Amino acid sequence: MTGDPVLTELREDDANVFWPWHRDHLAWHIRRWSEAWHLGWDEADIAARIRDGRLIEKEWTELLAAADGDDTLVRVLRDGEQPIGAIYAEIRTDPYMGLPLGVLSWLHVDEAARGRRLSEPLVKAALAWWAQRGVPIAQVYVTAGNDAAIKAYAKGGFEIIDHRMLVGIRRR
Ligand SMILES: CC(C)(COP(=O)(O)OP(=O)(O)OC[C@H]1O[C@@H](n2cnc3c(N)ncnc32)[C@H](O)[C@@H]1OP(=O)(O)O)[C@@H](O)C(=O)NCCC(=O)NCCS
Repeated sequence: MTGDPVLTELREDDANVFWPWHRDHLAWHIRRWSEAWHLGWDEADIAARIRDGRLIEKEWTELLAAADGDDTLVRVLRDGEQPIGAIYAEIRTDPYMGLPLGVLSWLHVDEAARGRRLSEPLVKAALAWWAQRGVPIAQVYVTAGNDAAIKAYAKGGFEIIDHRMLVGIRRR
């Protein structure tokens, strides 16, 4: 590490770093959910889904647009010029409460930089942004078993308030 990491804006030329991050995140997510759905997908199926669905392109395009949005925040943590982590947060309106709701949409720390508490400044940046904008509450979805993420969010003050339950439907 060249010094203290700094929080910065997203740049178009960060794509070479973010695309592999998106690929890793998508693969992890689809692997986990293909198990939950009892699909039996292997790594080739997962790669095909990412490729055929153009999922990395979609994630990256959404992130670039969010970096320019009024109700979205993208911050990139850099070691020198090198991105080592990122956060993407949104402000939506809760459809039932009719109130502003912060949504933490994506958090990522480069694999080589994990375990150094770098998630903390990223989560804090989102919390400060919501606070500045008068957002009273924020949520994040996190998959059971993603212990590092669960701990990072808990350290930021997030508490578990519900359970998502799935059932496989058999033809009768
Ligand atoms: C989740 C993620 C951002 C955490 O980043 P990180 O910088 O490695 O996390 P930190 O070093 O800040 O650690 C946060 C806490 O989790 C703990 N932790 C880290 N890795 C852990 C692991 N694999 N299992 C359990 N706890 C873990 C740390 O010890 C720390 O707690 P502590 O301060 O009490 O010791 C990172 O693992 C990541 O990018 N994962 C892949 C993408 C992802 O899953 N994003 C979240 C989607 S919801």
